[in-house]
Amino acid sequence: MAKKKSIDKSIERRAYGLTILKAAHHLMRQLKKDHEPSIHGNKFWSSSYLIMDYLGYQGLPIGTRVLEAGCGWGLAGIFCAKQFGARVTGIDADPQVFPYLDLHAQVNGVEVQTRQARFEELRAEELAGYDVMLAADVCFWDEMVDPLYGLIEKAVLAGVQQVVLADPGRPPFNQVCERCAEKLGGQTKEWNVEEGAVTANGTLLIVGSLPRKRS
Ligand SMILES: C[S@@+](CC[C@H](N)C(=O)[O-])C[C@H]1O[C@@H](n2cnc3c(N)ncnc32)[C@H](O)[C@@H]1O
Repeated sequence: MAKKKSIDKSIERRAYGLTILKAAHHLMRQLKKDHEPSIHGNKFWSSSYLIMDYLGYQGLPIGTRVLEAGCGWGLAGIFCAKQFGARVTGIDADPQVFPYLDLHAQVNGVEVQTRQARFEELRAEELAGYDVMLAADVCFWDEMVDPLYGLIEKAVLAGVQQVVLADPGRPPFNQVCERCAEKLGGQTKEWNVEEGAVTANGTLLIVGSLPRKRS
């Protein structure tokens, strides 16, 4: 009988079918020497669990084209690639996050494209190439409200069918939720996750609905 691979909980954790490396893992320690993210992309933020949990419950059609905005280590997008065979691109203003995303994509056996861009630089023509846009924990300063709302509005107008954001519930994020509710029919849901060792809670913002199957 094949021996079950044991997990060393001090260097990695398992959640939602993913392997997530901790800072103490030797591959992470190696990356840290050369890559230092500077806009809080220095770790995996647990709002991504809210997105994974919600999408696990909602589902996504196989092959959905997913953009993860402000991706950091990109775990929400990696979850979509692994669980739903999604075609995923992670964008972030800070290129120093991409080696961490690439490592996690590799460890989880999926491919994710990356591109350095700020929210405000993404054009409608590019956004039209996606079915779903995700973002976790990307609205923590007041000055992020306008660019983030602008990105969501542009994505919806470009034909992105569903936008799903998650946040612990910071005031700037709540402002984005209010604008999306008023102008784009956005809905908010308080979401709690208790999945094995994982606990997380916060707010989900959902604009649009489950994307259609791609033919
Ligand atoms: C708190 S981290 C969250 C990272 C990841 N989404 C997660 O949940 O683990 C915020 C991320 O947003 C990125 N970011 C901040 N402002 C941005 C902007 N204007 N355009 C694109 N990315 C941005 C940062 O570089 C960082 O990776």
